[in-house]
Amino acid sequence: MAEHPLSGKRVLLIVSGGIAAYKTPDLVRRLRERGVAVRCVLTRGGAQFVTPLALQAVSEETVFQDLWNLTDESEMGHIQLSRWADMLLVAPASANILARMAAGMADDLAATVLLATDKPVLVAPAMNVRMWDHPATRANLETLKARGVGVIGPNEGAMACGEFGPGRMSEPLEIVAALADWFAGRDGPKPLAGKRALVTSGPTHEPIDPVRYIANRSSGKQGHAVAAALARLGAAVTLVSGPVREPDPQGVTVVGVETARQMLDACRAALPADLLVAAAAVADWRVEGDAASKLKKDGGAPPALRLVENPDILATLSAPGPQRPALVVGFAAETNDVLAYAQAKLARKGCDWIVANDVSPATGTFGGDSNTVHLIRAGATPETWPTLPKTEVAARLATAIADHFKNGTKLA
Ligand code: C5P
Repeated sequence: MAEHPLSGKRVLLIVSGGIAAYKTPDLVRRLRERGVAVRCVLTRGGAQFVTPLALQAVSEETVFQDLWNLTDESEMGHIQLSRWADMLLVAPASANILARMAAGMADDLAATVLLATDKPVLVAPAMNVRMWDHPATRANLETLKARGVGVIGPNEGAMACGEFGPGRMSEPLEIVAALADWFAGRDGPKPLAGKRALVTSGPTHEPIDPVRYIANRSSGKQGHAVAAALARLGAAVTLVSGPVREPDPQGVTVVGVETARQMLDACRAALPADLLVAAAAVADWRVEGDAASKLKKDGGAPPALRLVENPDILATLSAPGPQRPALVVGFAAETNDVLAYAQAKLARKGCDWIVANDVSPATGTFGGDSNTVHLIRAGATPETWPTLPKTEVAARLATAIADHFKNGTKLA
């Protein structure tokens, strides 16, 4: 069996205070199953939710809690803890520890290690949705990201506090996958180094009036995964995304937009690029002359919405011209006759490749985590890929793109 990409790595897990800390013994187990050595630092808050004994049992290592412990400090000071590790992972990362990291505080062992380290740091935030949405937390995260801290999640869902929204810590296996991705990104080959990639993702929102809009069910999962996969192979990626709940992929420049016209403008501003992957589910129509104030029920006939066609971003950017990316890949979501419609779309849009997927409701593709796709390249026999996680579809597509550039051939 192939060795797991995490095998032999050393992770210093910092457990801060949050109910999600109860998942950390499982996280440690999952990491250790994959050959990772784990040492844990537990904050005072973390120790309210998980015991040092539990973490010690699963990690088979001493758990470090106290900055002022003479024995620990003489045998394994905070500097040594950081030196030992390949990476520091803060999970769960509470709003409090994110704030202390952003401010550069060193008021307990966890914060001191995080300040003293020159190793990469990943955080898996977990907190109440209002704390997550608070401008202070948003600003702290931006500060940390700008310093190169990687952010895993959080997920959206029901919370221990009874509320619903983003703020749930990513599941242990999702954190393991993010770590594996991170190491693969650092240690893996970079065949797309020096290439500029533009990726579109998510839905667009087309306003009806200031409070209502037309949208579709795209989650942005596939487009974001493509952006992340291209970045892992070394491309400089700009991701132009409509409104989504997906976290920004690591190492990618993200430009957030709402409407199709904004998406086209943002794409144009990101050119020149060597390649374009148009994975966004752009609304085909928008409301003509959307109302400046909220439409009201006035007892009369319901308002008639007149639709006008949106620009086709893929077709526009595929048109021959000096700015046309050397490789343009479109997506085709179809509910029937997937291959035939996708072939026709390839010709109509003027792109080089189409990734066609079946989005009939039974497949659960929209918003789901897996995808069954066909890769159709102009002049080549279509390939049908097995049903794969969207992240895996993205990795395969990125590899096919890298091979295309390596071979220097354009299938035509
Ligand atoms: O025509 P259809 O929407 O099925 O085509 C899908 C492909 O075209 C996707 O790659 C999508 O991102 C792109 N597209 C676009 N602008 C539009 C409509 C679709 O870029 N207005």
